[in-house]
Amino acid sequence: MGGPRCGFATQVSAPPLNLQDPTLAVPERYRHITLDAAQKDLIKASIPALQAHGFDITKQFYHNMLDAHPELKEIFNTANQEHFKQPKALAGALLAYAANIDDLTPLSGAVELMAAKHASLYVRPEQYAIVGTHLISAIGQVLGDAVTPELAEAWTAAYWQLAEILIIRENQLYQTSKGWTDWADFRIARKEKESEEVTSFYLEPVDSSLKPLPSFLPGQVSKSSE
Ligand code: HEM
Repeated sequence: MGGPRCGFATQVSAPPLNLQDPTLAVPERYRHITLDAAQKDLIKASIPALQAHGFDITKQFYHNMLDAHPELKEIFNTANQEHFKQPKALAGALLAYAANIDDLTPLSGAVELMAAKHASLYVRPEQYAIVGTHLISAIGQVLGDAVTPELAEAWTAAYWQLAEILIIRENQLYQTSKGWTDWADFRIARKEKESEEVTSFYLEPVDSSLKPLPSFLPGQVSKSSE
């Protein structure tokens, strides 16, 4: 059904989200929070465990999440799962976050990259609860009894603090871009053989009202939906 679908999510004009305030997707008790000193200490104390097991945690997380939400396989690049690129990226992000929990300023570049990637895939605020639930439970599964209720709570609060930053930035990208935010069906208009190994595929939107197409930006993806 349908042809390739392109996530031209960074060229969006109308607000795509059904939430006026995207931070409403953050559970009320974690909305606009800052972590207290004790929670920050717990997060910092968990850095060695993250260094040792962060990759296992994120592998377990993806496995559980994609099992429970197979619809998310649509946006997660399965090749990146197979080569563990994605679990490594998330483990690295979690470590960097824990290491900078006292002052998140050095993370602004990383946040920008994550938000751009997410916006290009039309990640939505309400999906953060799915990721959060499976991430915290994977931490518990891998680290076992080392995860006290206080540590689990500190990581839940920390997760939502970072999630809120990303949700706000992604919403800004959705609001300020020109074009459309969601996924759109495309058909292959023509194929051109450039060389023995390279063939160019020229795509056009099934819905012609999407024309003229915005020019592409780095980091965009297209995916076939069979
Ligand atoms: C605080 C929460 C989150 C963090 C820290 C995070 C972190 C990351 C990082 C570090 C990357 C790699 C970026 C790059 O390639 O440069 C990434 C990519 C991605 N994230 Fe997130 N993310 C979060 C939440 C979410 C949510 C809620 C979704 C939606 C279900 C999501 C979906 C994705 C997808 C689809 C990719 C691209 C994966 C691929 O290429 O296969 N993320 N994220």
